[in-house]
Amino acid sequence: MNINPIQLFDTESSTFTYILVGEDDKSAVIIDAVDHHWERDLAHLKRLGLELAYVLETHAHADHVTAAGKLREVTGAKAAVPAGCGIAPAEVQLNDGDIIRFGKDEQIKVIHTPGHTAGSVSYLWRGNVFTGDTLLIDGCGRTDFQSGSSAALYDSVVGKLFKLPDTTRVWPGHDYKGQSVSTIGWEKEHNSRLAHRSKEDFATLMASLNLPKPRMIDIAVPANQNLGVRPEERH
Ligand code: FE2
Repeated sequence: MNINPIQLFDTESSTFTYILVGEDDKSAVIIDAVDHHWERDLAHLKRLGLELAYVLETHAHADHVTAAGKLREVTGAKAAVPAGCGIAPAEVQLNDGDIIRFGKDEQIKVIHTPGHTAGSVSYLWRGNVFTGDTLLIDGCGRTDFQSGSSAALYDSVVGKLFKLPDTTRVWPGHDYKGQSVSTIGWEKEHNSRLAHRSKEDFATLMASLNLPKPRMIDIAVPANQNLGVRPEERH
């Protein structure tokens, strides 16, 4: 069977969306869907004859609006989101160690990985970890807003994700350099922000980045806390 996730990309926000297909070839979940791609994602599900069990979020994004609410509406899937992200309309609020079950015997383990945001989680499934903006390929998410913390991000990556087997494949929430998949072993050895760096050095590095405020943050975060349904669309 194919245990590769289906990886989809949004060129506007450089966001990866993932469709995980169960061994039964009938059921799926989607992670971090992007609002204007909901029809693309739905077409994939339909073409492959998949029933969508869950829409999952790694965190409340600041750079794009999620399609979670729209996909939930059109497929009847449930929304499962990190408990610490203030996404109230979801059916399931996820905590560290929770298991999401779908299909015949698929299990996705929730790993709380705060730092990019306080509520961020990663999802572990069949030797693949979906890291959202916690760990990127040769990088990591910023830690300067949304209750971000470089100390927490360091502990999440070095203390939790780097403890996974080296062969675990890393599927990030974004890529800005043209790469799509990595491994824990590679990131542990070569990640230019985190590999072989002390927590103090990492904090100094993150504090010196001086990144601009994300263009979408004031719209995206409130929308995403409502599963992507913007206030003017509520009825
Ligand atoms: Fe993010």
